[in-house]
Amino acid sequence: MNTRADRLPGLGEAGRSGVEGGWSSRFAFVMAAAGSAVGLGNVWKFPYIAGEYGGGAFVLVYLACVALVGLPVLAAEILIGKRGGGSPMESFRELARGEGSSPRWTSIAWLGMLCAFLILSFYSVVAGWSLSYLWQASTGALTSAEPGHIAARMEGLFDALLANPTALILGHTLVMSLTMAIVVKGVRRGLEKAVRLMVPGLFVLLVGLVVYAAVYSGQFGAAARFLFAPDFGALTWDAVLVALGHAFFTLSVGMTAMMAYGAHLRGRVRVAPAATAIAGLDTLVALLAGLAIFPIVFAQGLEPGAGPGLIFVTLPIAFAQMPAGGFVAATFFLFLAIAALSSTISILEPVVEYLERRPAWSRRRATVVMGSLVWAVGVLSALSFNIGSEYTLFGKSFFDCLDFVTSNVLLPVGGLGVVLYAGYALSRRTLALELGIGSDRGLFIWRSLLRYVCPAAIAVVLYRGLVH
Ligand code: PHE
Repeated sequence: MNTRADRLPGLGEAGRSGVEGGWSSRFAFVMAAAGSAVGLGNVWKFPYIAGEYGGGAFVLVYLACVALVGLPVLAAEILIGKRGGGSPMESFRELARGEGSSPRWTSIAWLGMLCAFLILSFYSVVAGWSLSYLWQASTGALTSAEPGHIAARMEGLFDALLANPTALILGHTLVMSLTMAIVVKGVRRGLEKAVRLMVPGLFVLLVGLVVYAAVYSGQFGAAARFLFAPDFGALTWDAVLVALGHAFFTLSVGMTAMMAYGAHLRGRVRVAPAATAIAGLDTLVALLAGLAIFPIVFAQGLEPGAGPGLIFVTLPIAFAQMPAGGFVAATFFLFLAIAALSSTISILEPVVEYLERRPAWSRRRATVVMGSLVWAVGVLSALSFNIGSEYTLFGKSFFDCLDFVTSNVLLPVGGLGVVLYAGYALSRRTLALELGIGSDRGLFIWRSLLRYVCPAAIAVVLYRGLVH
């Protein structure tokens, strides 16, 4: 029994944060969380890994991973934040008091914050690429190649961007500046205002792109078959692991971002349906992104398995040959930039909240200091594509090392901590109350996912990710 906690839906609600109020509504929260989840992962990474791993069967496995592992982890993370009501560290401490769990669980928040810091540093560099492409598409430079030289030109453009430290640092600096400008204003006046504009905008742009792809490519059916007709013969173990790892990344779980967002929820919000809506929107965007990209790629007879260059090389090659290609390219990269920005703000938020509480810094100071530190580490990532490319660790550049360590180690470990905490340290009653699950059967399923299915799946990813 936990009467104190039951009375206050978020323990810290009364006095939390010193920052102005939380989300103004459940809807605002779902939009912000969906904005966090929808990002480069959906538009850049999902289509290219689906392409590399052969399409349909991979997509099916990915959907199963999102539903069976990603969704419970997401719900657990939001729930911990909501119940604790503070910065991720404070939430665990508060829960240690209110729920009688060990304060040692706070280390999950520490790990998550480290992970958030590192992810933001290189994520912002890739987000900068989208700004650079947006600029080139808007000026017409992206689609101005002579017929016959288009492929070589697009490859050349991408290579030239990566080889240019100034351009990379400029893009990264812009992304970090915009992120800081939003975060500094706080949850209600900064983040919520921004996502209210960005998230609906994202959907409009995406639907426009899908319609364009359907109308002009003549390859919509081929793309739909590629994404949805499974060929299990092509499925490998590696594909399953990549799908599971990506389910984490795309839902923004394992690094406290969703915990921080959940902590700003007010009142009686049922976490299970909210998390399901967020995961559903995220999946919808990933699939729609595939349906926008592959028809265009197929229409020009290009390969879907081009890897990370899919949207920065293959797609521009296609745009350059399509009607209104320049305009569509600009729309696409604008969409990508917005998707990235609504994610970067969610990664900076928990890190800033930490400094706001501990040394009790002002929001402005916390944002400037943390943002600048992240920026500095990001510069090293940007340089690792060019002048710093000889500095490698285990044959990987600085950028690749950060990507590897965060995606394959820190995110799964963080996610594991979160599900174990929700599955074992929280009482059945708290879980039922916060998830908003009335039936015993429903609760049994959620708890079994948290206690057995998720930990087992995560352990396998970790093992394979590290041993291979
Ligand atoms: N989910 C985001 C994407 O798909 C990335 C992200 C990871 C955002 C972790 C926040 C936290 O691009």
